[in-house]
Amino acid sequence: MTDLSVSYMGLRLKNPLIAGSSPLTATADHIEDLARNGIGAVVLKSIFEEQITGEAAMVGRYSDYYPEAHDYLHAYLGADYMNSFTTLISEAKRRTDIPIIASINCMSEGKWLEFAGRITDAGADALELNIFFLPESKNEASDKIEARYLSIIDKVARIVNLPVSVKFSVRFTNIFHMLQQAYTRGARGAVMYNRFFEPDIDIERMEYIPAGELSTQAELHKSLRYIAIASSEIPGLDISVSTGVHTGADVVKSILTGAKATQLCSTLMLNGSKVIGEITSSLSAWMERNRFQTIEEFRGLMNRTTRPGDPLLERVQYMKTFPAEVF
Ligand SMILES: Cc1cc2nc3c(=O)[nH]c(=O)nc-3n(C[C@H](O)[C@H](O)[C@H](O)COP(=O)(O)O)c2cc1C
Repeated sequence: MTDLSVSYMGLRLKNPLIAGSSPLTATADHIEDLARNGIGAVVLKSIFEEQITGEAAMVGRYSDYYPEAHDYLHAYLGADYMNSFTTLISEAKRRTDIPIIASINCMSEGKWLEFAGRITDAGADALELNIFFLPESKNEASDKIEARYLSIIDKVARIVNLPVSVKFSVRFTNIFHMLQQAYTRGARGAVMYNRFFEPDIDIERMEYIPAGELSTQAELHKSLRYIAIASSEIPGLDISVSTGVHTGADVVKSILTGAKATQLCSTLMLNGSKVIGEITSSLSAWMERNRFQTIEEFRGLMNRTTRPGDPLLERVQYMKTFPAEVF
């Protein structure tokens, strides 16, 4: 009999599957459905900093171009929206027995920080910060931008009486330095990585259009090396893997590299909540085949500490991968 339970940022999860922030975690009904189908924890759909501050400029900006957006934005901004967010937290806590992780998408140390305390009062078990600054100017050096991230993390970790995790993007020159700096400022967890809304181009109409909203399994490859190194470099930081986790095998790979948990989004949207049971069954079956009774027994067995100098872990250029005669 396998025990799938894990500890993530001090929270006890019955298995390492967390529903990542998405529309599927935006209502109590959806969250109850995820819990009924066996999810270990849920990260709520992010509340955006602008929604907390009810930023008038944003309403103005969009309303000029899209008059119908005015009413919509008002409904999703300010006090009413904050109340619905805290109600969602308490409702999710009342209707399930799983950890509920609130999520804030933020870009400054502004007024929204006052709201963080209300998240704790509403019963959230942890807070995930989704921070990203799109560099737009050649005049701002990366160390200045990184300092803005760290300053937010520092403030939030001090104000909020909850474990705080940071959802990072892949776009750092040295992610391990950022992880270490976040950790020393009080972050207990790191989500690697966020997957952004990206633009594509319709070349006939010469217009920007949304690129694919959902991930594929292949995208997990981009993270495995970095998790294997991060879990060796900063062992005290709890990593949860986001982007490209679709199957039980993907969960096994994430844990072998040292992650504590995995976040599911695209697979839940594509396959529905029943996929949770399929993933936990496949994870248990793999553990039984390999004679592991607990997750901790194989966590990190393929990270850089346990596989030092493994050429396939550390090599990034293709030099000798393909023999010359193939081409
Ligand atoms: C429709 C949609 C909405 C999302 N909304 C949020 C959000 O509000 N906050 C956030 O941190 N991530 C958000 N995400 C990103 C997911 O939480 C997740 O990081 C990403 O989809 C990669 O995981 P996956 O490969 O399992 O899909 C969203 C993703 C999708 C597809």
